Amino acid sequence: MTMDLCEALKSATKEAHERAENTQFMRNFQNSQISLEHFKLLLESLYCIYVALEEEMERNREHPALSALYFPGELHRVSALEADLQYLHGEGWREALRCPPATSEYVRRLRHVGSEQPELLGAHAYTRYMGDLSGGQVLRKLAQKALGLPASGRGTAFFTFPNISSSNGFKQLYRSRLDSLELSQQTRLQILDEANRAFQLNVEVFEDLQRLGPSALRNGSSVPE
Ligand code: HEM
Repeated sequence: MTMDLCEALKSATKEAHERAENTQFMRNFQNSQISLEHFKLLLESLYCIYVALEEEMERNREHPALSALYFPGELHRVSALEADLQYLHGEGWREALRCPPATSEYVRRLRHVGSEQPELLGAHAYTRYMGDLSGGQVLRKLAQKALGLPASGRGTAFFTFPNISSSNGFKQLYRSRLDSLELSQQTRLQILDEANRAFQLNVEVFEDLQRLGPSALRNGSSVPE
């Protein structure tokens, strides 16, 4: 019997998940060793990624392989990232936005999939949103503690999903939606490949951010008042 898609996704990306978790960038984050410079750079990079992912999801929202995974009110991250960047960088953040090379590569892939193979976009949505829902609360607390960001949530809105009351409940729903997709065997295999590719793109983004770090700084590093 064939595995359900969500089970197949989890198993096919297990090693890639371990690689992502173990990048120096993510290890530093988990050990509360993230600097404010790296944190800002991460949010800028995520902003570039989510703008592309969410525009492509929006454009393809009626596609049969995507409509069941379309949850803009619950999942979308762009406005939360805008609020965080506005808080951390102040006015003018948009003009000064940095989109490092590996991030641009990820964005290019999202645009390509969105226009040429939208049936694979769900692999990207799964990789990011399920990851955000799984680790978000822990990462938010780590960031607040390590960087002295306020408990009110300013600067860390990206990590909270105000329209989801139970992340486990929502993850269950999302998994059942993934399993309900009617896909050919070929598309299913391509989705598994694409999810691995999405993880790899994330690894490359983290490696890039780790390399860039403070040397890519524009300005000071203090938390806003
Ligand atoms: C699931 C931890 C980074 C994507 C999970 C789960 C844990 C976890 C504990 C399991 C939750 C559950 O079974 O309900 C972490 C830690 C990370 C990290 C500690 C590094 C700090 C990432 C990254 C991505 C990612 C960078 C991708 C960009 C996912 C996905 C799932 C997941 C897609 C859902 C798996 C599934 O149930 O199908 N993560 N993660 N994670 N994570 Fe991560």
